[in-house]
Parts: sequence; C-alpha cells; structure tokens
Amino acid sequence: MFTKRFIRGLEVQKQIGLYRNPPLIDRREGRHVFIGQKKLLNFSSNDYLGLSCSPVISEKVAENFRKFGSSSGSSRLVSGNYRAIKDAEQAYAQAFGYEDALFFPSGYQANIGVISTLFEPGDHLVFDKHIHASSVKGIQLSHADFQGYNHNSLPHLEKRLKTGKGKPQAVLTESLFSMDGDLLDVDDLKKLKERYSFFCIVDEAHAFGAIGKQGLGIAGKVADVAIGTFGKAFGFFGAFVLLPKICKEFLLNFSAPQIYSTTLPEAHAASTMDILVMVMQSHDKRAKLEDLSTQMKNLLQDKGFTVKGDAHILALEIGDESQAVALSRKLFDRNIFVFPARYPTVPMGKAILRISLTAMHAKKDVDCFVDTLVNEMEG
Ligand SMILES: Cc1ncc(COP(=O)(O)O)c(C=O)c1O
Repeated sequence: MFTKRFIRGLEVQKQIGLYRNPPLIDRREGRHVFIGQKKLLNFSSNDYLGLSCSPVISEKVAENFRKFGSSSGSSRLVSGNYRAIKDAEQAYAQAFGYEDALFFPSGYQANIGVISTLFEPGDHLVFDKHIHASSVKGIQLSHADFQGYNHNSLPHLEKRLKTGKGKPQAVLTESLFSMDGDLLDVDDLKKLKERYSFFCIVDEAHAFGAIGKQGLGIAGKVADVAIGTFGKAFGFFGAFVLLPKICKEFLLNFSAPQIYSTTLPEAHAASTMDILVMVMQSHDKRAKLEDLSTQMKNLLQDKGFTVKGDAHILALEIGDESQAVALSRKLFDRNIFVFPARYPTVPMGKAILRISLTAMHAKKDVDCFVDTLVNEMEG
C-alpha cells in the first residue's frame, strides 16, 4: 500500500520535471569535481572561500579530533556541555558583536529549533516569502499567526506589520537570499524596526564569512538573532546562532532540537575557533569572490541573459522546470556542474540555474562558463 504510493509519487515528480537524482561525485579537488574520469568545473558549491579544501584547516581539524575524540557522547543537557563548546560560542558572539551564541548540529536544525521555540500562538510572525524551508518549518511548528510579505518588499512588510499592531511581532528574513542572490535592505529594515519595534531574526547563512567587513555579514545593526551556518563559507558543518543571553537560556531549556540531539563534539568547537581566525583574515579571498561575481554577472547580462544577484549567488532565470534541468544536463555534458533550482526550492514556474562563485574560481572559469552557456543556447 505504501510502496504503491511512493512509486506513484515519484512518477508524478518525473512527469512534471521535479524528480531529483543528483550525480554521484567520486571526488573533489578545489573548484573541480570528478565523476569517474569526467572532470567538471563546479559552480554549485557553497564553499565560498574554498576553506573546505584548505590543507591548513584540514590539519587543524584532524589535530582537534585526535586531541578531543570523535563524539560528544550525549546531548548538551545530559553530559555534553563542554567548556570547549562554551568557549567557541563566546568567541563567535564576541567576533560578531552579539551577547552570546549557541551551536546547533546544522542550520536546518537551528532555524527550526530557534523559531519554533521563541514564538507561540498569539504572536504575529511576518516573513519574507523567499526565506529558507527550515525557517518556514520553524514558523509552522511555533503555531504563531503568520503572514508572508513579497520578496524583499519593505512597503509590503510594513502593510503586514500594521495588521499585527498590538500583538508581539517578529520579522524573519535573510541577508543574502539563498536562491535569488539579492541582499536585504538593512538600513530601511532598521527604520521600520524603529517604527514598529518588532523582534528580528536574520538568516545570514550565505553572507557570514563571505561578505561584510571581516566576513561578519551585513545585518548586525538590525538582527536581534542571526543564524549562521558553518557549512558554507566556513567550509565545515554545523551552525551557530547569535543571540541575547536570555534567548540562549530559553532555547537550552525549551528547544527540542537542542535538548534531544547529541551535541556536536568538542573537536568541532575547537575547529570552529581555528576557522574563525582564518575567515576573518580572508580579505583577499572575499575581494576576489566579489570581483569574479561582478564579472560573471556583467558578462551574462552582456550576452543577453536575465540574471539576478548582488553577490556570489547568481540566479539565471529559466522559468520552465524541465528546461532548467535540460540546460544543466547539456552543461554537464560540456563539463560544467551547475544546479537547476526548481520548485519547491523556488516558486513553481520560476526555475533558475543557481550559479555560485567561490574564491577558488579564476577569471578563465567565468569565461569558460559563459562561452559554454552561449554555445549551448545557440546550438
Ligand atoms: C538560508 C539558509 N539557511 C539555512 C540553511 C541550512 O543550513 P545547513 O546546511 O547548515 O543545514 C541553508 C542551507 O541550504 C540556507 O540556504
């Protein structure tokens, strides 16, 4: 009975161009991935600074695991509340200018854990319609009232805030949007915050490490709570939430993903300290990333493509789901690896090629991408 349902569900996915079957990667070397003997230039990675390929980081991580062992052995609240984790959280809070920090095993868990716990029925949550799936899930699980506002439209956000006047209100958004690649207007959001005094959560998953002074993101002056992941520009795994002390205490007491999940090992925490130093010093990498991203966007626009994005994530508009998949397959055949983002990751009928640049790319890679794309479109 269940099997029939699963088969039917998968068939429908195939018919409407939404079936997922990612290629199996044998190995990775910097900006290239290898599938068998095939070597592809990777434009699908969130390793924006290339730190996951840094031999220095790999050695430090290995050292930390040798020193501390491989597992924390329990959840934070049982016997996993290690000094190494607390020290690392304090280092992150201090670097980013927040009162405190709390680590989670992933950004997905962090968004669910934070949003579902801090809010409750009767609260009014107003969220950008393009926030990450994990934030949406957190909103649903909070059982608060919620309303979406049009992507990055602060006038629409204000309309929503007016309807929630008198209730405890929170705004949930991202600083660099994961699929659209555009930036939050932090100054205008701050003005709205002064007028409506809402609580503000900003997911800086794609910004932290990669943009802002010393890689510290862009939303510090407006966010009460900021979500960061180690899995992107930090070249690692797990997540950090920057927050007021009272929120940390509340989450440690009430957040199910924090309470009922094995905490990340001490070696992880020690490694995040090494990575933080490296991230903050990566000025040249950030400057290179910015240059490459601008070059890619300008070149694509010069060739007549509709491409959006204000930083290292560029969204090349395609529209039809099957066409996006077909184009990415053609590029794959020409040794370019680029992700076709489709519903539900982006709205239905608005499929894109999501091009992500990293500091490992070179200008010749950008040229290669654009030339290959142009050839494929003409052919
Ligand atoms: C905006 C945003 N938030 C959170 C996450 C989840 O982070 P993680 O990969 O650490 O689970 C992602 C990952 O894709 C993301 O794009």
